[in-house]
Amino acid sequence: MSTWGKTADGTSVPIYTLSNGQLEVRISAYGAHLVSIKAPDKTGKMADVILGSDSLQTYIDVPGPYIGAIVGRYGNRIALGKFTIDGKTYQIPPNNGPNALHGGPRGFDKYVWQSHEVPDGLELTLVSPDGDQGFPGTLTLKVRYTLKGSTLRIDYTATTDKATVINVTNHSYFNLRGDDAADILGDKIEINADKYTPTDAGLIPTGELAPVASTPMDFRKPEVIGARINDDFQQLKLAGGYDHNWVLNGKAGTLRVAAIVADPVSGRKLTVETTEPGIQFYTGNFLDGTFMGRHGIPYKKNWGLCLETQHFPDSPNHADFPSTLLKPGETMHSTTTFTFGVVK
Ligand code: GLA
Repeated sequence: MSTWGKTADGTSVPIYTLSNGQLEVRISAYGAHLVSIKAPDKTGKMADVILGSDSLQTYIDVPGPYIGAIVGRYGNRIALGKFTIDGKTYQIPPNNGPNALHGGPRGFDKYVWQSHEVPDGLELTLVSPDGDQGFPGTLTLKVRYTLKGSTLRIDYTATTDKATVINVTNHSYFNLRGDDAADILGDKIEINADKYTPTDAGLIPTGELAPVASTPMDFRKPEVIGARINDDFQQLKLAGGYDHNWVLNGKAGTLRVAAIVADPVSGRKLTVETTEPGIQFYTGNFLDGTFMGRHGIPYKKNWGLCLETQHFPDSPNHADFPSTLLKPGETMHSTTTFTFGVVK
């Protein structure tokens, strides 16, 4: 552990390095961000495989793309920032057009978390007070990052003292080429999902679970990301690329493969497993060059891809989506793993 810097109010921010010879991971207590993951290519050369900066100030100054952050209390969008629990309506201040995104204006990515080392890793804790950004209940969230072999595992645990909603995820942008050397359009991705949730123009799910078959959303077999991204397909036009939630096959609550990405040039391969019911595959469509990466490259459109394991966006307003409600006495537990390898 070392001190990375200070926030505007003078709070000092620890940064940690986890390393086991196969992976090297840096994690900041500010927003519980994954700041760096280094993994080997097919020749054994280690390089950064997520976007990031060595400067805490860059994360503070350019929070918009949520690079590497833990997002919450509610990852992705809530329509108009409004939802109802037990007949009472709650309002999150809109911060994405008329909608609330990633927990509202001051989401979990903008707090300094408590942190301490645990065997093989790090545990970060955030206590979000009752009424934080309009959400009911004092919510205690623990995020535990651990390294085992070539796997980085994330465990999320949460409890509350009043009924609330929760949907937390990690918002890393993967770039398997290494050290930000190219965009991600040449990567191949496979997503273990027969259906996805189409959205309206504000990227709020319409409620439909649409089949991926015969559309550019079909990644049941590995496909090159850029091959169909500019197809004349309304969902891609609305989002400026891929920015959708896929409904994962298999049983939510059990760890199963959600997605596999591979870069044919470096040979690096990432397998994502999760207990969550969905995954947001986002091709960095809104990256506009304002976040300057550690290798001197401003992050522009398609410079990284996110694989946000999650409950579906706007679930509090869709009774037939898997529930994001958390009640006092219950514990939310969710696991996601990122395993790095090489293409054979
Ligand atoms: C999520 C959203 C995107 C975008 C990014 C942050 O992936 O679905 O639309 O807002 O977060 O830039």
